[in-house]
Amino acid sequence: MDRIRIRGGRPLSGEIKVGGAKNAALPLMAAGMLTDDRLILSNVPRLADIATMTLLLEQHGLAVEPLTEDGRMLSIGGGIANTEAPYDIVRKMRASILVLGPLLARAGEARVSLPGGCSIGTRPVDLHLKGLEQMGARFDLDGGYVDGKVDGRLHGARIVFPFVSVGATENLLMAAALAEGETVLANAAREPEIGDLASCLVAMGARIDGIGTDKLVIQGVDQLHAAEHDIIPDRIETGSYACAAAISGGSVFLRNARLEHLGATVRILREAGVEIAQEDGGLMVTRLNGLHGADVMTEPYPGFPTDMQAQFMALMSVAEGASMVTETIFENRFMHVPELNRMGARINVHGASAIVRGVPCLQGAPVMATDLRASLSLILAGLAARGETVVNRVYHLDRGYEAVEQKLAACGADIERIS
Ligand code: EPU
Repeated sequence: MDRIRIRGGRPLSGEIKVGGAKNAALPLMAAGMLTDDRLILSNVPRLADIATMTLLLEQHGLAVEPLTEDGRMLSIGGGIANTEAPYDIVRKMRASILVLGPLLARAGEARVSLPGGCSIGTRPVDLHLKGLEQMGARFDLDGGYVDGKVDGRLHGARIVFPFVSVGATENLLMAAALAEGETVLANAAREPEIGDLASCLVAMGARIDGIGTDKLVIQGVDQLHAAEHDIIPDRIETGSYACAAAISGGSVFLRNARLEHLGATVRILREAGVEIAQEDGGLMVTRLNGLHGADVMTEPYPGFPTDMQAQFMALMSVAEGASMVTETIFENRFMHVPELNRMGARINVHGASAIVRGVPCLQGAPVMATDLRASLSLILAGLAARGETVVNRVYHLDRGYEAVEQKLAACGADIERIS
């Protein structure tokens, strides 16, 4: 199994190209099921999760073809021939649940393995199921699978989410695009990835109002058609490399990064002493002086993202003063804390909050990645640490960060992948 070895202490300097957003690409690929025509996606990141989604779409009978040698442009088409999403694929990636809405809207039936929990929380899908029920679907649980059926066609409904869910908003948005009549999604997620999905659906012929707000109004259409769509840059990859520049005391230009997608991340990083400037074609991130502790609480967009919490905590572990990091989205997203503490960080967890007392320096150590974002937080700690850090279980990292060791090495980090 691959590991990443880092020898810390080198300030980063140079340029990193930010790729297409994983969490936009996955629902956009599922949207390819909404038509038999071709959906062409560009700026597709090269990640293990994209390979898993490709496998799932192929299992449903669709053709997923790379149109360029580097695989960054994909054609998806051909229509649904099989409505089962098997456990073997779903267990690898929870975002597989995003095929449920499209399957019910197009085929009137779906048999999708329930994703189950994962290392960051229990992650139920009740909001997806309840919303689809309101639109006319019926579900039975059978052997770990949800069996969904629709008599005729899904119909519009007024769905008020009791709390914000990115995945449920996406699933219901896709289903509503082809439902009969009007659907209102109230208290919908506003993440930039939702806006990206909605604008692709509009290009496919969907009628959606309120894009970018928490109230989406969808007038269902009979069918959708071919379209081309360029995926937005990954705001979490952007924030992660901004933390890398900051923790190393360097200066990195993040090509393609968009300030307007970063929400509270920019404000908090600036509060901690990181300079972020919009320039032509990207963002310049610099840290010249010391870092100060800053408090954050994770919230739905535009609040501080849970997907940046672990990386920010690594940064705060070497800031001057104390920081309080509160996680409100997932109940178990502090698995990186004991690993960071093994490197000399001083972090105590009390319920949903962690108190981080900054230390002058971390020390390299062998550590274990527990999930995608935790993996990156350990790499960040390794960049700042004295000596050698080896991050084990790198397969988590490969799900969501493309060529991380190459991107960081090109900016002067002493980092390599070892098999
Ligand atoms: N929730 C429910 N019931 C539901 C759906 C969600 O209780 O039916 C709960 C979840 O357990 C969680 C909260 O609601 O406590 C929010 O979950 P949400 O549905 O918003 O998350 P998701 O759609 O499963 C996406 C991202 C995650 C990201 C979250 C929050 C994708 C593929 N995944 O997950 O990304 O953390 O939104 O922003 O878009 C990552 O990339 O590392 C990652 C975990």
